[in-house]
Amino acid sequence: MIKFLDLKKQDRKIHNFILSDIKKIINNNNFILGKYVYSFEEKFAKFCNAKYAISCANGTDALTLALKSLDLPKNSEVIIPAMTYCSTAFSVINANLKPILADIGYLQPSISLKEIKKKITKKTKVIMPVHLYGSVVNINTIRKIIKNKKILIIDDCAQAHGSKLNSKKIGSIADISCFSFYPGKNLGAYGDAGIITTNSKFYKDKIKSLRNLGSIKKFIHNNIGINSRMDSIQAAVLTRKLPFLNSNNKKRVKIANIYKNKINNSKIIKLKYSENCVFHQYVILCKKRKNLIRLLKKNKIEFSFHYPYPIHKIEALKENFKKKKFLNAERLAKEGLSLPIDPNLSNSNLNKIIKTLNTF
Ligand SMILES: Cc1ncc(COP(=O)(O)O)c(C=O)c1O
Repeated sequence: MIKFLDLKKQDRKIHNFILSDIKKIINNNNFILGKYVYSFEEKFAKFCNAKYAISCANGTDALTLALKSLDLPKNSEVIIPAMTYCSTAFSVINANLKPILADIGYLQPSISLKEIKKKITKKTKVIMPVHLYGSVVNINTIRKIIKNKKILIIDDCAQAHGSKLNSKKIGSIADISCFSFYPGKNLGAYGDAGIITTNSKFYKDKIKSLRNLGSIKKFIHNNIGINSRMDSIQAAVLTRKLPFLNSNNKKRVKIANIYKNKINNSKIIKLKYSENCVFHQYVILCKKRKNLIRLLKKNKIEFSFHYPYPIHKIEALKENFKKKKFLNAERLAKEGLSLPIDPNLSNSNLNKIIKTLNTF
């Protein structure tokens, strides 16, 4: 069986270090926030070239906390792509704001800048691009589109750790950036974890309070916050894994280039990924997806979908977006298929996947 992602294999070299860190944490009785967490926050901020990093419990909370820190009037509009993970939309609703969908670009993973322009109204307060599959949205162009309007950019970087826009790291360009460390991400913890980066001291202070039940000082609660703290064990795991992020991303890019150059079947359509994409996923389109799935199963090749429903067709959200159409997002949901892009995918398995696809 060719696995879609083999996490055990990824971290074999650092397992013993991680286990000894966990032992120390148990002996010190220091499980939530604390030394390991603050040290990881500093390291991650430095990695992104951002002034501040505030950790939290997961990527969904990172987005919700970022939005809540803005103190916007209820139902202010937040523009998000019609194709993303459900969390992007849910975070907007959970922050008492209104998600406005914009389609993704033609054969592109991420939000169309033209569509953003069309969706801006007087109520728009935030644009929330998602660097889906690690493909970078041009934040600089969005800045030009919103010019002097009072609109902020919060980017969902859950799939784009280590990617860049020109020479600038993702996590340092938008007003606030939100990351997930779900285990399967390019940088993943051994459980749920997330982080927010920003260059604004104001947002940093607000988010730091909101993630800890509105408190900076024990028993003093200045805001109605949530309990969304990172625990020490996740911080220790992430600290050990961070030094390998760039090299793992390079391996992903190498595999993606091989897919791009060697898949030569006209029934398989390749997406246009941005420069400096870090390939959290490698997604292809195929009109006859059912038949392709049958072939992959027969050859014992695992695959996945990212994502089988566009935002407006998710059961819990259907009512919010009745009669809306987003053709590019709908096509990606219907025809998209994610191939294995594990940084440790062996050459022989990679060749087998390509050979199988080319015989389809
Ligand atoms: C694009 C995107 N946004 C948000 C999230 C939410 O992150 P988490 O699962 O850590 O809550 C994810 C991860 O699953 C994601 O892929």
